[in-house]
Amino acid sequence: MPQLSQVRNKAQRAIELEERYGAHNYHPLPVVLDSGKGVFVWDVDGKRYYDFLSAYSAVNQGHCHPRLVAVMQDQAARMTLTSRAFYNSVLGEYEKMVCELFGYDKMLPMNTGAEAVETAIKMARKWGYVKKGIPADQAKVVVCEGNFHGRTISIISMSTDPGEPGRLRAIHAGLHGHPVR
Ligand SMILES: Cc1ncc(COP(=O)(O)O)c(C=O)c1O
Repeated sequence: MPQLSQVRNKAQRAIELEERYGAHNYHPLPVVLDSGKGVFVWDVDGKRYYDFLSAYSAVNQGHCHPRLVAVMQDQAARMTLTSRAFYNSVLGEYEKMVCELFGYDKMLPMNTGAEAVETAIKMARKWGYVKKGIPADQAKVVVCEGNFHGRTISIISMSTDPGEPGRLRAIHAGLHGHPVR
């Protein structure tokens, strides 16, 4: 059984390592999570929490579901990655399942929320040019004030989040923030 001081040291060390070696692009709460199961997560002190945040919905299915762990282990042992230079034996099946489940014509899998928002901006611009006939380079994307969608250069540019350092706000062509009334 570890002593309380050792446990505290473990949490402190994890925080200090992130602060020292990780780029400061986020300001986490001082909780060092170590494991999870279903709706629960445990910190390095062994304290249990309900995971109401669920990684902003990326873990809505809960932590470490045995079926999901098994298929991820199986895939990791089968093949690491297929670049988009090739077709893949299961990508089409996955795309078909998602389209049929949500009633979409097509889908594009993304790794992050920021990429999804970037894709939405591209689609809106293309729709403006191709369907609405907006002259080349004249499209404007209107966003709501107070938004935060991640940290790509376009998304930072359209954010009014006070936490974003002003020097990073290289205003991207055609992105306009507007107050929400
Ligand atoms: C509200 C909100 N939207 C979008 C994102 C971006 O998501 P991702 O980190 O998956 O790109 C974040 C990430 O912090 C977020 O907090």
